[in-house]
Amino acid sequence: MDYKDLIATNLSECTGLDKEQVLGLIEIPPKLELGDYAFPCFVLAKTLHKAPPMIANELKDSPELVKGFDGAVTVDTAGPYINFRIDKGILAKSVISEIIEAGDQYGNKNIGEGKNVIIEFSSPNIAKPFHVGHAFTTILGNSLSNIYSRLGYNVIRFNHLGDYGTQFGKLITAYRLWGDEAAMQENPIDELTRIYVKFHDECKVSSEREKELEDTARDNFRKLEEGEPEEVALWKRFRDLSLDVFEKTYKRMGIRFDNYNGESFYSSRIDSVVNMLEEKGLLEESEGAKVVKLDDEGLPPCLVVKSDGTTIYASRDLAAILYRHEEFNFYKNIYVVGLPQQLHFKQVFAVLKKAGYDFADDCVHVGFGLLKFKDNTAFSTRAGNIIKLDEFLDKATEKTAEIIRKNSELRGGDMTDEQIAQVSEVVGLGAVTYTYLKSGREKDIYFDWSDMLDFEGDTAPYLIYTYARIKSILRKAADQGLTGSVENADKLTAEDEYAVIRSLADFNDAVIKAAESYEPFMISRQIALIARNFNRFYNNSRILNADSDEIRDARLKLCEAVADCLKSGLDMLGIGVVEKM
Ligand code: ARG
Repeated sequence: MDYKDLIATNLSECTGLDKEQVLGLIEIPPKLELGDYAFPCFVLAKTLHKAPPMIANELKDSPELVKGFDGAVTVDTAGPYINFRIDKGILAKSVISEIIEAGDQYGNKNIGEGKNVIIEFSSPNIAKPFHVGHAFTTILGNSLSNIYSRLGYNVIRFNHLGDYGTQFGKLITAYRLWGDEAAMQENPIDELTRIYVKFHDECKVSSEREKELEDTARDNFRKLEEGEPEEVALWKRFRDLSLDVFEKTYKRMGIRFDNYNGESFYSSRIDSVVNMLEEKGLLEESEGAKVVKLDDEGLPPCLVVKSDGTTIYASRDLAAILYRHEEFNFYKNIYVVGLPQQLHFKQVFAVLKKAGYDFADDCVHVGFGLLKFKDNTAFSTRAGNIIKLDEFLDKATEKTAEIIRKNSELRGGDMTDEQIAQVSEVVGLGAVTYTYLKSGREKDIYFDWSDMLDFEGDTAPYLIYTYARIKSILRKAADQGLTGSVENADKLTAEDEYAVIRSLADFNDAVIKAAESYEPFMISRQIALIARNFNRFYNNSRILNADSDEIRDARLKLCEAVADCLKSGLDMLGIGVVEKM
């Protein structure tokens, strides 16, 4: 039974407020003594012309308010608040039963049924290294995709590859001059980077050399745009080889995409966008270029066609939104792209809105901060300290393996090398993922190895360790023929037990809030709380040799419910679990 939902339904009936609004207003009181949920009556004061405490008192006595409570919820007031207290035993039994039934799918809903949500994330530029800077969009986008799918939306995962632009004219030129086929097979991105850098170095030799190279590059790009087979074949090869490399990393991280339409895909659709804007009288000449003025929106003009007639990034994004709407009639079109591109998206959405496409309002830019070292240097290509994501992941799993090996040795060496490697891959990648998702996304992350791998801290290793620990208790119980029972779960009303149950009950809400605000950290924060509450309970209570068989069986089910919920929450973040570590 979802008591919060029932309370909201009743409150909505009594007050005439929308249920959604009521749900948004319901608070969790700061102290457990005040009850489980509180409704502040301030909003009603204006319409009812009464003081909030008086409204609270009158509502409290309304029979409508307690419909269906059947003694499970008691109502009280404290000043302007109506407080609701759920019977601890009834709550315990209801929450544990609900989780055991849902298993590791706890938190799922069907609120998104029949709605298409496009989530665009990762979107690296081909022929360039996939570095730690790309990890944020990749990890955040993957988590949001998981969360929206779990809420029943039909999620379409887009990877808007940066696979177009004048730089491909340069790459084709450079490849013909200096490309090394063997190196290309061996490590395509390194080789493409090498020749791209060489192109720029050669340009510095003399202005004649620069002109010659730039002219050839421009010519090659033009041929590519006109669909000349040789240039197209080379470009396609660069793209395929790059994608192979990216896909290896995605696979390792358990990430997949439904659609790899990159910028090149939309280039053929730009003419119709330009015509449409022209017809609607929105395009204006500005220093030879064509722009859409956005003064009314308080934004700088959006550049659509450059003065040399070539199209740019923004026009490809305009074409992409129109395509996506046509093809998927999206309920939401979400862009997981760094905050530096905020203005770009504001402009693109504003142009569409101006052109009369109301679905511009369903487009959302989900921005995020930077990953920085604790010494404050941001990872960036230009700073020359590129850290490839794969190497970063390798290092994380290596460091994790050291810790896991040491722990195993302390227990007399109970893990094989293979087990250590398997566990370290899950825990190491989990540690990286969690680092990106444990705080609000717009904050910069200050990265530090020992924080990230602290088995006692706010980390994935701590959460996975808690999960594995529960699994080991459950295995031990099973060896004794015990699987637990929810029958007497209403006896779990001690303070430590209640804290665990309360935090498990709030998980549902955290998932919905995470989706609404595009903040997976609402989930990471909740499961971290559950794990801490569980470990406190575990340290203070006996499970297998509890005072009675009833309590033992109920506690075993509580353990199982915590494991299910942790697994579910971690999976939403894109983090796996291990059964033993
Ligand atoms: N490829 C771009 C980059 O690496 C990100 C693309 C963002 N998505 C978009 N629809 N513009 O900066």
